[in-house]
Amino acid sequence: MCGIVGYVGYRPVAELLLEGLHRLEYRGYDSAGIAVQYGNTIEVRKKAGRVSELAGLLKAQPLVGKIGIGHTRWATHGATTDQNSHPHVGGNGEVVIVHNGVIENYDILRRQLQTLGYVFRSQTDTEVVAHLLAHNLEEQTRLHGSPEDLDVCLKAVEVTLNLLKGTYGLGILFRDLPDTVIAARCGSPLVIGVGKDEYFLASDASPLVGYTKEVVYLSDNEVAVLRADALRIDHRSNGSVNVSVKTLEQVASDTDLGQYEHYMLKEIYEQPTTIENALRGRLDNEEATAVIGGLNLSAKDLRRIDRIVLTACGTSWHSGLVGEYVLEEFARMPTEVEYASELRYRNPPMSDRTLVFAITQSGETADTLAAMRECKRKGHPTLAICNVVGSTIAREADGGIYLHAGPEIGVASTKAFTSQVTVLTLLALYLGRMRHMSYPAGKRIIRQLRDMPEKISKALECHDKVREVADKYHHFNNFLYLGRLYNFPVALEGALKLKEISYIHAEGYPAAEMKHGPIALVDQQTPSVFVIPRGGIYPKVVSNMEEIRARRGPVIAIACEGDTDIARIADDVIYVPDVEEYLQPLVCAIPLQLLAYHVALLRGCNVDRPRNLAKSVTVE
Ligand code: M6R
Repeated sequence: MCGIVGYVGYRPVAELLLEGLHRLEYRGYDSAGIAVQYGNTIEVRKKAGRVSELAGLLKAQPLVGKIGIGHTRWATHGATTDQNSHPHVGGNGEVVIVHNGVIENYDILRRQLQTLGYVFRSQTDTEVVAHLLAHNLEEQTRLHGSPEDLDVCLKAVEVTLNLLKGTYGLGILFRDLPDTVIAARCGSPLVIGVGKDEYFLASDASPLVGYTKEVVYLSDNEVAVLRADALRIDHRSNGSVNVSVKTLEQVASDTDLGQYEHYMLKEIYEQPTTIENALRGRLDNEEATAVIGGLNLSAKDLRRIDRIVLTACGTSWHSGLVGEYVLEEFARMPTEVEYASELRYRNPPMSDRTLVFAITQSGETADTLAAMRECKRKGHPTLAICNVVGSTIAREADGGIYLHAGPEIGVASTKAFTSQVTVLTLLALYLGRMRHMSYPAGKRIIRQLRDMPEKISKALECHDKVREVADKYHHFNNFLYLGRLYNFPVALEGALKLKEISYIHAEGYPAAEMKHGPIALVDQQTPSVFVIPRGGIYPKVVSNMEEIRARRGPVIAIACEGDTDIARIADDVIYVPDVEEYLQPLVCAIPLQLLAYHVALLRGCNVDRPRNLAKSVTVE
């Protein structure tokens, strides 16, 4: 949700910022821009559209310098125009900024600044911050000295930040303070890369990969001053911060497309490996349990827990639903799954025996972070199931479990979903073995989990059939996705995948629930995708399928290999390997991801950059 880059050092900055913006483009792709400082001059180039548009502009109008900031935008306030693109200039060019977040009180601030004579060139909330900085710089200069003085500039920053309500990650250049990038964070992530005679700034670590492995994560209410030879960080209330440098594990090839045309496809195909990574070192065959190291809770603490709340958004919420089923089944643990955006404002009764897990790929989702903080405030042990190491949620949680799935770049989440389900299953095994589960049952689950990477490879063999099905159905404008028990969340996830990348209306439902309303939608123009692998209530789902057929709805079935009966009812069948019911979400997700991918391609949609979306949603 907007990406920020910044640099101060010895390299030609325009190219570097552009490369960083390419890597951050998944966070927003409505417009892009950079500002480069050279002595006391700051020049801006910005353009609506993708980063490639900005690259074209920079070719025609290059910028030279070694200090700069850049931005790729996911629009919140104001349309996707050149004027609304970042960087934004404050006053008469004394300040130039890039911003990720939302300034909630921008309207009143804007009116006050207009009264003072400031002229707005955009409809954004960000421009308010730029003018406020310029205004406060003038004030501070009048009171304390010169705009060339770092302390004067920092005072202007402080006074400005005190006036803001909302969230921000900011990169700031002051015209009269050459050689310096200032960064400030409240609610929107920022990471600083530490090099030799150079510092980098970015919304996440991806632009730093290949340049440095040393990083510093900025925390909320911190302000950083980056100069080629020094880094200084102050907390807005507590003063100077001891800089703690961490080592980055990511390598450049993690973000390469390799042989694939799109990140989404690459990430779908990574799933045998990512599931293996989620399991690595976490299966204890001797004890017939899972090894989960990072919970920071003793076995005694965990035995005291009598309820789990899983909170998340989007796809991560769907994996939470699978988690609910498996935690209740394996660990007999009452579990609830809460939309983070609701939980953050609700006040459900939760005792001190309630354990909270925030599930998130990015670790930066604003609602999930807020829900987690709210639960922490109330004293609940709050853990994270997270992919991005060093992300805000990972750092603020009391403990947790990493997915180890590697960077997920495609906006449509794929490998994170299956890794989350895998990790939640491990958690259920772990808690189950602590409570009710027998040794042989634990052994059996371990064996079945070990087989999963291979089963997922096998599931990927459905690709040709999925292509055929996509070809047949891609022109339909409404779809139903239906499944029961473990496959109900899979139906929701399949529908979300189709919606978000092909812009087709799709609804996921528990298959039996559709007769309470959604069946009214069924006609020859509304295909239903049934997730119907074998299991205890298979015949019931077959009946639900018959009900659709009776109303002439086309039916696509995701079924177990060898299930020839289903081919007599469904119009099309996509086969996946036969696995235990609790593992079916893993194999059944694969054809649904591929189906969404191919339908989107056939409809000419941008698979990795769907309209209106961004990879990590850092605004409320
Ligand atoms: O990074 P998170 O897992 O917290 O993200 C949550 C959702 O924004 C995310 O899963 C979103 O729904 C995906 N685009 C779905 O593919």
